Amino acid sequence: MKLWEGRFDKPLDKMADDFNESLSFDKVMWRADIRGSLAHAAMLGNCGILTKEETASVKAGLEGIAEDIERGALVIEGAEDIHSFIETELTRRIGDAGKKLHTARSRNDQVATDFRLVVLEGVARLKGCLVGLVEVLASRARESLDYLMPGFTHLRKAQPIRCAQYFNAYSEMFLRDLDRLDDAEKRMSVMPLGSAALAGTSYPIDREQTRAALGFREISQNALDAVSDRDFAAEYLFCASLVMAHLSRLAEDTILYTSDEFGYWEIPDELSTGSSIMPQKKNPDLPELVRGKTGRVYGDLIALLTVIKGIPLAYNKDLQEDKEPYFDASATAESCVKIYTELLARIKLNVNRMYYAASEGFSTATDVANYLTGHGIPFRDAHAVTGKIVRYCIENHKALTDLTLEEFRAASPAFEEDILTAVTVRASVDARNSVGGASRAAVTEGLASVRRRLRKYLA
Ligand code: ARG
Repeated sequence: MKLWEGRFDKPLDKMADDFNESLSFDKVMWRADIRGSLAHAAMLGNCGILTKEETASVKAGLEGIAEDIERGALVIEGAEDIHSFIETELTRRIGDAGKKLHTARSRNDQVATDFRLVVLEGVARLKGCLVGLVEVLASRARESLDYLMPGFTHLRKAQPIRCAQYFNAYSEMFLRDLDRLDDAEKRMSVMPLGSAALAGTSYPIDREQTRAALGFREISQNALDAVSDRDFAAEYLFCASLVMAHLSRLAEDTILYTSDEFGYWEIPDELSTGSSIMPQKKNPDLPELVRGKTGRVYGDLIALLTVIKGIPLAYNKDLQEDKEPYFDASATAESCVKIYTELLARIKLNVNRMYYAASEGFSTATDVANYLTGHGIPFRDAHAVTGKIVRYCIENHKALTDLTLEEFRAASPAFEEDILTAVTVRASVDARNSVGGASRAAVTEGLASVRRRLRKYLA
């Protein structure tokens, strides 16, 4: 039976019915739907729109349905969507009072409300996952304050950095993601219920009461907008897309750093996979999947943005296409963050390998140039002199730390004995004491700052 079939002579064609339905994917919203209906019914009762008996009967009926779904005694099937399913089931159980639940309500404001409740829960879950991830990043940073590694630009060794500074960089990204979700939550927490189909309702309802019962921050101020606004879901998808962008960068680093060529990190056996043909291989399937799944989440965002771009006011059935992108993106983003939290917690750092890699490749050449500018030579000239020293090293198969004071002085008389320490990686990182820099003090402060900002989300 359809909720709307009174106007029609013939039942809906089977093919059309299958095409039109959303129950197959919106049944997971049953808890939100029942919550919304309980709040709505209580309000109708308080406002004298339903009698005390009717209200009590609707409440008991809805609670019974929730219990039965929960324990598997009631299978969600045979309706157009979750809203019709629950209303039909309620009427089957309690009779006429069930038919009154939909007074002063439309499926348009009902679905908009349910979906907001569902996405709000998703925001809270994703935030929880991100908090766990930043905690692991912070503890890896704490442990690696004194480990050095090469820093890259253009994937070429650029300057040595502290490992902790590397981990802190990702903490910064995921903290921004947390802030972004936190901010989106404010706009999401606006209740459409009471907007009815599009124009509001003539019943003397009390929207403030349902708002308080459902825990929304505010009630919507325009019924036309409220029933057709899906910005909140688009914002969630954008937030999730950026989370995935950040994870994907981390995945790319992981894949490189765990390769034989880099050898900086090692993925533990229980999180690695093998090859069916090449017995020697240990593959980074998990980070590769995270990198690959980023595309799906971006796709989900674009799908929804495209759905909403052509929606004339107010509700249109296109909006039923809002849910699957969200379900897909939230499941994907949450599982990727969780997998990465495990991976990072267990990844082995090859400290010596990273240290040697940081010392190779003339990564302290900038320090040579800075040394010269410190001795009154303009930076451009210092850059040129250093370039000549690097060329000399390449031709003579030497590292900067192999050079004698005489060899330095052959390039410029400004060099003194202390150049020999200035070109070591440790001196190089510790010279970078600007806020956010690679020195021990700067990185320690960077980590403290990550921890301070994380605290807001730990409560
Ligand atoms: N299943 C619909 C959706 O997900 C519910 C709202 C239906 N409203 C309507 N006027 N047909 O959007």
